[in-house]
Amino acid sequence: MKRRVILGISGASGASIGLRIAQILGGMVDVELHLVLTSASRRTIAHEAGPQALGRLIDIADHFHSDGDIGATIASGSFRTAGMIVAPCSMRSLAAIASGFTDNLLTRAADVQLKERRRLVLLARETPLHLGHLRNMVSVTEMGAIVMPPVAAFYRNPMSVDELVSDIAARAVDLLGLCDTPLIAEWQG
Ligand SMILES: Cc1cc2nc3c(=O)[nH]c(=O)nc-3n(C[C@H](O)[C@H](O)[C@H](O)COP(=O)(O)O)c2cc1C
Repeated sequence: MKRRVILGISGASGASIGLRIAQILGGMVDVELHLVLTSASRRTIAHEAGPQALGRLIDIADHFHSDGDIGATIASGSFRTAGMIVAPCSMRSLAAIASGFTDNLLTRAADVQLKERRRLVLLARETPLHLGHLRNMVSVTEMGAIVMPPVAAFYRNPMSVDELVSDIAARAVDLLGLCDTPLIAEWQG
């Protein structure tokens, strides 16, 4: 059976990272990709990645879920998954996940990963951060999520924005622990 992975994209800046993660997961033959977008993300995807990006994303996914479809498969813990990445994760979605306020399918699916003790990786994106943002990051970490702000690894000397985006995306996928061989090459010292 293919491993089911959920990718949630919210309305924070960094839509191209979500798109790149979709491309990586979509290229894995043994992964079934479930995609859920918030309504705010439709705007950031179009603004940051262009008008065709939304269609490209939906084409990559094996299953595309509307954020209002609270009866979708991924809304239930009985639907087994290998985990979920939210990339990028807005401060609104982070706050909703931190408080268990499951007001749409993305936050509900994230809540399910936590209650079922599955891997949840949140690419929480805002800067600067106020104390409420930081407290929400602490709360989700205490509940078992991994907060991975999409911060550049400058020591790898990225030559372009595309390289930087690909590096962050690969690190997020590696955190799911799907592959025996990590996507990110080991630092050789
Ligand atoms: C161009 C643009 C960039 C944004 N960037 C961020 C951001 O980096 N972080 C954030 O928390 N919200 C950001 N927002 C605001 C969110 O889209 C907004 O709070 C929205 O309600 C989030 O809803 P969602 O979590 O359901 O996607 C941005 C909005 C726009 C239009």
